[in-house]
Amino acid sequence: MTSQDVRKQFLDFFASKGHLIVPSAPIVLKDDPTLMFNNSGMAQFKEYFLGNATPKSNRIADTQKCLRVSGKHNDLEDVGFDTYHHTMFEMLGNWSFGDYFKKEAINWAWELLTEVYKIPKENLYVSVFEGNPEENVPFDQEAWDIWKGLIDEDRIILGNKKDNFWEMGDQGPCGPCSEIHVDLRSEEEKALVSGKSLVNNDHPQVVEIWNNVFMEFNRKADGSLEKLPAQHVDTGMGFERLCMALQGKTSNYDTDVFTPLIEKVEQITGLKYTSNEVLNISEEQNKTNIAIRVVVDHVRAVAFAIADGQLPSNTGAGYVIRRILRRAIRYGFTFLNIKEPFINQLVAVLANQMGEFFPEIKSQQQLVTNVIREEEASFLRTLDQGLQLLENVVTETKTATVSGTKAFELYDTFGFPIDLTALILREKGFELDEAGFNTAMQAQKARSRAASEVSTEDWSVLIPGNVETFVGYDQSESDVKITRIRKIDSKKDGILYQIVLNNTPFYPEGGGQVGDKGTLVSANETIEIIDTKKENNLILHFAKKLPENVNASFTAKVNQDLRNLSSRNHSATHLMHQALRSILGTHVEQKGSLVNPTYLRFDFSHFAKMTETELQQVEDFVNARIQEQLPLIERRNIPFAQAVQEGAMALFGEKYGDEVRAIKFGESMELCGGIHVKNTAEIWHFKIVSEGAVAAGIRRVEAITSDAVKAHFASYENTLNEVKIALKNPQDILKAVHSMQEENTKLAKQIEALVKDKVKNLKAGLTAEIQEINGIQFLAKQVDLNPEGAKDLAYELGNLGNNLFLVLATADEEKPMLTCYISKELVADKNLNAGQVVRELGKFIQGGGGGQPFFATAGGKNIAGIQNALEKAVEFVK
Ligand code: SER
Repeated sequence: MTSQDVRKQFLDFFASKGHLIVPSAPIVLKDDPTLMFNNSGMAQFKEYFLGNATPKSNRIADTQKCLRVSGKHNDLEDVGFDTYHHTMFEMLGNWSFGDYFKKEAINWAWELLTEVYKIPKENLYVSVFEGNPEENVPFDQEAWDIWKGLIDEDRIILGNKKDNFWEMGDQGPCGPCSEIHVDLRSEEEKALVSGKSLVNNDHPQVVEIWNNVFMEFNRKADGSLEKLPAQHVDTGMGFERLCMALQGKTSNYDTDVFTPLIEKVEQITGLKYTSNEVLNISEEQNKTNIAIRVVVDHVRAVAFAIADGQLPSNTGAGYVIRRILRRAIRYGFTFLNIKEPFINQLVAVLANQMGEFFPEIKSQQQLVTNVIREEEASFLRTLDQGLQLLENVVTETKTATVSGTKAFELYDTFGFPIDLTALILREKGFELDEAGFNTAMQAQKARSRAASEVSTEDWSVLIPGNVETFVGYDQSESDVKITRIRKIDSKKDGILYQIVLNNTPFYPEGGGQVGDKGTLVSANETIEIIDTKKENNLILHFAKKLPENVNASFTAKVNQDLRNLSSRNHSATHLMHQALRSILGTHVEQKGSLVNPTYLRFDFSHFAKMTETELQQVEDFVNARIQEQLPLIERRNIPFAQAVQEGAMALFGEKYGDEVRAIKFGESMELCGGIHVKNTAEIWHFKIVSEGAVAAGIRRVEAITSDAVKAHFASYENTLNEVKIALKNPQDILKAVHSMQEENTKLAKQIEALVKDKVKNLKAGLTAEIQEINGIQFLAKQVDLNPEGAKDLAYELGNLGNNLFLVLATADEEKPMLTCYISKELVADKNLNAGQVVRELGKFIQGGGGGQPFFATAGGKNIAGIQNALEKAVEFVK
């Protein structure tokens, strides 16, 4: 059974049990501050469990792209070393939202595994929650009884809180679970050791495949559990492990999910991967296998994250992606001996293999390949530099142990992996002070933890069960009541309150547009709202203080001036997107955007720097649409498929509902939840202010509209006026500037000639002043020349012989400067160095500098020190 068939059968089975099949949510989460990536199938449904939103169907099933590389669930460092952990994996899942519970969930799981997939019952074990008195959660008798009707009692195992009580994070929905484990060992092995004793014991062939969670509780901020309003089911089955079981393999990497990728790596590296069936492999082969597993695992995580819109970067989710990719590069570099970018070549294989079910990987293939290739190239350069630095560290180290702080510096500043440092040091016969490294690492972690610490209290619910409605498309003011309040305390912003209203005109940050600001006004007081954000389905209004009377009636008022400025920039962004596609081509796709009252920023896929002409064309295109005074045509709640069919642009990595909102200005049509102008004329004018690269194949344009353009032109006009006044009000400014430049060139030439003459004269006089000390021709003297003149003079005097030591001091334009010239022969014979001389003497003029061994200069601040410097110079020759 191919992996494609396995996936299809799962979805078909649950469709036949009345489940709605939905697509996987993007791997990167946008509106959830507690989670960076989807780490389980249920993450996208969290709000349904909490009762903050209503699902389309109370039975849903899907396969979800998951990533477990940060936060509570993090498998990154295990990946490669075993045969069944992954960074990215697919989780097949079925859900009941307040509908069926344990009986159906368990019976269907059993039916699917044993009757559809036909896994022999004697290979399966199940676990049931044993209960936990501290949490006040009893033994799961109900699950036990259901299982007893399906499977021998001695195949049911009791599990503790760690194994059988599932929680997504420190807070949120949770509950006891029942896991299904499969024993894939040979009959001989089974006869020797019972599978039961190996369950939950990290045995590579006795693994959990399916977790059935019975969501009943919500974990609160203080750690206590409260009952959820309804009972739900959340199941998750590891797709790759299931494929292993169904394809008769003992390693996930031997299934067709991975073999095409592995074959490609073999082809590129000329190395061989050995399947898990091959026993007694050499140490060398084991290392190769690990590295290949790391590479083929990590490329999936990175490629899907990029396809879903998350580029590698230095912060947040982007940094996690960069670290995963770097881990793969580093394994390729050290163990597969590949010193050039190669991982990007696997994207084509992946697209071919998974593109049918996940179309994003196919349509984004080129971009994903480019981004990975560029990241590889840049990290390989870093590795090169790091190796060089490590070489220096080793040379400097006089003991057999290299300090942990040094290794940490390499890791922290250059991203040089610590295990690579340790390996290289071992090869060179050095020890690494690992304890020192760990201490430095812990200290840094503590620092960054402290900086990002946020404590979030539980919600105080004032009006229960109220679903917040957004009314901001039609109005900027609304009569409201507060439904809930929560206090948060962060190192960054101090204490803030998050306020949820029964309805709100405030736009929450999203789709690139910043959140609205404004006020909550009651009969007695006014509360400033400093920002508005979304957390899953709730719209949070941020305030520095709470109203005295939180139960009062308020008018929520959006700051209309700021909103107008943002909406002009947002509508201009749509027009620019259209302009870019029409001028550069339809390969242009949005990769990121920011819209605030001051400016707009737009990232898009395009392979070359935009020319001046193209930029002008884009500006003209947008300004033409502004002049056409195109009215906004807004369509709410149209079916997604219809909108796309009518030509609306949808973005990858964005999660759209079945019904969407389309924004149309003339020919521009996009799916968008943002706030827009009613007519393009409101934008007044559009001006691009910068264009540059953000990553391989991704450009960034920044632009301004309306008031900002006026300010931009006004500031130019101001500067121009000042220039005009400074030039004494000429008729033609440009002509005046040109003639000034010409005059300047002429004068510079004259000065050069005069300085030359002066150098000649000085040379004649100074030759006589040269003294002989220790067989060296020595002169230290202040001269009245500019720095170029001093250099010329030094070379002129230097030409006179081959044993000159010369220090010239100048104070041109009140800036002290020392110039040292030493004949090359002296540099060699007497071990003199001009760079060292100016550094030493530079201290007298409060300055520094350097250069070559025979010629160096130092500039400083203290003219009064020149005399001392010149007097000291003689000591070098003495
Ligand atoms: N949430 C559970 C898990 O991730 C089941 O889907 O294991």
